[in-house]
Amino acid sequence: MIIMKTVEEIAKMREAGKILAACHQEIAKMIKPGITTWEIDQFAEKFMLAHGATPEQKGYHGYPYATCASVNDVICHGFPKEEALKDGDIVTIDMVVNLNGWLADSAWSYAVGNVSEQAAYLLDTTKESMFKGIEQAVAGNRIGDVAHAIQKFAEGRGFSVVRDFIGHGIGSEMHEAPEVPHYGPAGKGPRIKEGMVFTIEPMLNTGSYRTKVDADGWTARTIDGGLSAQYEHTIAITPQGPVILTEL
Ligand code: MF3
Ligand code: CO
Repeated sequence: MIIMKTVEEIAKMREAGKILAACHQEIAKMIKPGITTWEIDQFAEKFMLAHGATPEQKGYHGYPYATCASVNDVICHGFPKEEALKDGDIVTIDMVVNLNGWLADSAWSYAVGNVSEQAAYLLDTTKESMFKGIEQAVAGNRIGDVAHAIQKFAEGRGFSVVRDFIGHGIGSEMHEAPEVPHYGPAGKGPRIKEGMVFTIEPMLNTGSYRTKVDADGWTARTIDGGLSAQYEHTIAITPQGPVILTEL
């Protein structure tokens, strides 16, 4: 069942989203060779607490950290580590902010120092694919229209779209209906309606879309060691169209 949100509930999620966006903005400034994802995680947790919010990921199904930090071939759910980021790495920081019981979810990928042309193109394409999906998130369309727009754009640029992890409805729970895949045929899936709130969070790989999970039970990597990037916003469907809740 898809839990529809009132205008007031969406406004509360928007406040959570602003804190999340501000946190990403600070993290963007911190990303450089030598910093560790552990330091970023500590910063993010303190930032949320200082803004009267809590890190929803910490303790979620036993996940131990406030953020996910996914470097290079890690697709998602990487653990923050006391290991310095290196020039040429790419890293995705994903987090969920809980403000007074209402959630916002956003991930952003960053270049560390100077990255390869391929890595820069992957980052650019992944971000743009998210916006291609958001454009389709209008009442009357179907989830498949979002999915298809992302896949068409990503594959048109020679990248693959991860199947094993998808977007999701969100509200007072991190994962609600509907499921929001980033691949598949247009015109299929649930009808998009005003009052829905869901994430759009494509993960694009340079090689195969297939994934494997480390022995820690969380860290998801590309099967072939290729690079992976991800961008994620939480979106509300309104009479004015899709509204991004996780920006300033
Ligand atoms: N933010 C992630 C998502 O997009 C969830 C991370 S899983 C967690 O759904 F366990 F770390 F919370
Ligand atoms: Co998400």
